[in-house]
Amino acid sequence: MRRVYADYNATTPLDPQVLEVMLPYLREHFGNASSVHVFGREARAAIDDTRVRLAKLLGAQEGEIVFTGGGTEADNMAVFGVVRARRKQGRHIITSSIEHHAVMHACQYLEKTGECEVTYLPVSRECLVDPVDLRKAIRDDTVLVSIMSANNETGTIQSVKHLAAICHERGVTFHTDAVQSFGKQLVNVNDWGVDLLSIAAHKFYGPKGVGALYVRRGTKLDPLLFGGSHENDRRAGTENVAAIVGLAKAAELATAQMGEDQPRLFELTEKLGDSITRRIHGAHRNGHARQRIGNTINFSFEGCEEEGLLLGLDLEGVAVSSGSACAVGSLEPSHVLKAMGLLHELARAAVRFSFGKSNTAEDVDYILKALEKVVERLRAFSTYS
Ligand SMILES: Cc1ncc(COP(=O)(O)O)c(C=O)c1O
Repeated sequence: MRRVYADYNATTPLDPQVLEVMLPYLREHFGNASSVHVFGREARAAIDDTRVRLAKLLGAQEGEIVFTGGGTEADNMAVFGVVRARRKQGRHIITSSIEHHAVMHACQYLEKTGECEVTYLPVSRECLVDPVDLRKAIRDDTVLVSIMSANNETGTIQSVKHLAAICHERGVTFHTDAVQSFGKQLVNVNDWGVDLLSIAAHKFYGPKGVGALYVRRGTKLDPLLFGGSHENDRRAGTENVAAIVGLAKAAELATAQMGEDQPRLFELTEKLGDSITRRIHGAHRNGHARQRIGNTINFSFEGCEEEGLLLGLDLEGVAVSSGSACAVGSLEPSHVLKAMGLLHELARAAVRFSFGKSNTAEDVDYILKALEKVVERLRAFSTYS
């Protein structure tokens, strides 16, 4: 049976070129970057070099990069770090109602513990935050705004530059979760004017468990982890040198290939979207049709349930998600689709197709056939007619 992986927003395979640059740091150059001897110095040099290269790709300075244990940690560090460092200025934060749980649950925790008040901005049917809503929501005691650049479920891209500018007019720190953007759209911290920005290597063919937080010089940020003085006292813990080296290599490759990959993936996802709309009645496209990362497209199918769709497609060899991978297994419909105003039935009947390097036009044809079969089968068992 053919197997089609169309879940690249969940994770990507490691690029062999990335593995190659990582291996020496798992074998001979295994030193602890804090050690003074030659083994340590080799590891330190690799991290320093990586920091310079990653900073360059983001339009940042090397001292503004903090390596983390992935996207979740970068997001948590941004939210908790700013809130705690700016406690004296205020206790209000603003985020959107479509954030990844790495931001959303951090905000909800701060709300629950009484550390902060949180405003969750609504989004349009197309998954867009309205800058007017942000402007209205900012208060004198607002210390942080965190709004993602591209949504992991729908792919919709926010006008980050505009949102950041609004925050800066009021002296509010702005963080964006760019975990799904990096490698799919141009990410430049100065062009966007953000203070903090999160990325995760495993979303762009790098290793899992490593990411980075960009922290604009002068941004007040408390640490999340305490211990040694690693990462300029910002993130304690012995560095995962091989993963950090892999992150930079993956970031360079993704940046170099983006111009070619993304238009191709945009075309492929459009082809899939057009075919679904033509061939499957009762299929509704979710998210912005044009203002989106090229690889992501999301559909709800009337008369179907997410679990049935995902399992049915899996049996046909097609790997997709219903939205956030972290939400699989929970019966709650996607908070993103609910925030976009979808009816409960449609929010619970969504499939996210997220393409990557391996996908071809033949995959699109195969997915479509599998989808027709699965949707028909599920509808036969429901009250849908
Ligand atoms: C938008 C977004 N933010 C954060 C994360 C969390 O990143 P990680 O899996 O590296 O912790 C993800 C992962 O799915 C994501 O899609």
